[in-house]
Amino acid sequence: MSTLERVSTAEQAPVEATRVNSWNGWDPLRHVIVGRATGTVVQAPEPAVRRDFPEDGFPLGTWGPMPEEMTAEANEQLDSFARLLSSRGIRVDRPTPLDFTQRVSTPDWEQESMFGCMPPRDVLLTVGNEILEATMSYRSRWFEYLAYRPVLQSLFESDPDMRWEAAPKPRLTDESYVPGFWDTYNTLGLGEQLDKVAANDLVLTEKEPLFDAADVARFGKDLFVQLSLVTNRQGYEWLRRHFPEHRVHAITFTNTHPLHIDATWVPLRPGLVLHNGERLATPELVKYFEVNDWEVVEAVQPASWKHQMRLSFCTPWLSVNLLNLDPNTLCVEAEEVRLADQLVGLGFDVVPVPFRAVAPFGGGLHCATVDIERDGVLEDYFPRRAGRF
Ligand code: ARG
Repeated sequence: MSTLERVSTAEQAPVEATRVNSWNGWDPLRHVIVGRATGTVVQAPEPAVRRDFPEDGFPLGTWGPMPEEMTAEANEQLDSFARLLSSRGIRVDRPTPLDFTQRVSTPDWEQESMFGCMPPRDVLLTVGNEILEATMSYRSRWFEYLAYRPVLQSLFESDPDMRWEAAPKPRLTDESYVPGFWDTYNTLGLGEQLDKVAANDLVLTEKEPLFDAADVARFGKDLFVQLSLVTNRQGYEWLRRHFPEHRVHAITFTNTHPLHIDATWVPLRPGLVLHNGERLATPELVKYFEVNDWEVVEAVQPASWKHQMRLSFCTPWLSVNLLNLDPNTLCVEAEEVRLADQLVGLGFDVVPVPFRAVAPFGGGLHCATVDIERDGVLEDYFPRRAGRF
């Protein structure tokens, strides 16, 4: 496979100059990364995460490559999504999969397997002309940035203004994880779990800054960082200091398993955010949006996923994991017809994209992509202060 395979159509327009630029999730999309399912692995055990799929052939403690037919089907959907984007004039880059079954190590630890490169959103955060490699917080994902290095190197060479950054590589020693977290947490009642989520008293300690890029939602000058199972307060604090021109906010939702903000609090266009009603925002966050004349719309229930959740660590709320092509156009998973109707009612054009087979590889249409270029500049969509915001 070529390192920088670019999907091309028969009559492709002459390639324009490469420019890294994206400040929010909705401005017109020009250039994007689309992940690959190739080589994805059900991860070997590690302190940060528990994989337990007894019905699907991977009970607790076992690991190995995802079944071949699932990988092939996911790749077909990813490839046709990439073709759809390029047919609309959007440039598409793809990662270079590694052997994710390999054992990896640092001077501090050894891990029996890696994970994959379907969800680039987890690893890379684009803010303006900067692409930032996140720390990540799973040992199996420590080296995942390598799958994106060919793309990043090429962007660096072709755009003289691109800023290529990487957050401090974490140590991920045992001191970064709360011992026995999963055994204890899973026996707690809902109320106790939600208290811990609100306090961000979860599997990660505060030993060092840790975050996944997908816990950050970009609204121009405001960046919202979800504290989660993979993002700690120090991770937020590092991001806050790293983006001094932004207002960077730490937020939580009533979600017992918070992991990436993009199925929870989803910007659709200036003045409109889609909210997952099963994961409530705090009243102060809602207030901040309301005093700035943003409408907070609750998404309709996801469609049925029947058997399609085999080996998946995501929920049916991947329904709201949308990709904007511009402020009026949204890519929506093809079976989510009620959500599509809701979005049409809000004035959007909907592009249906079959994507169910991709879910077990780490997410939906937003997870599977990273913005390289959107039109637009840095804007302030929240001129009024409210509470701590
Ligand atoms: N944790 C979310 C859910 O299952 C899925 C978010 C996935 N996002 C991502 N960038 N991988 O509801």
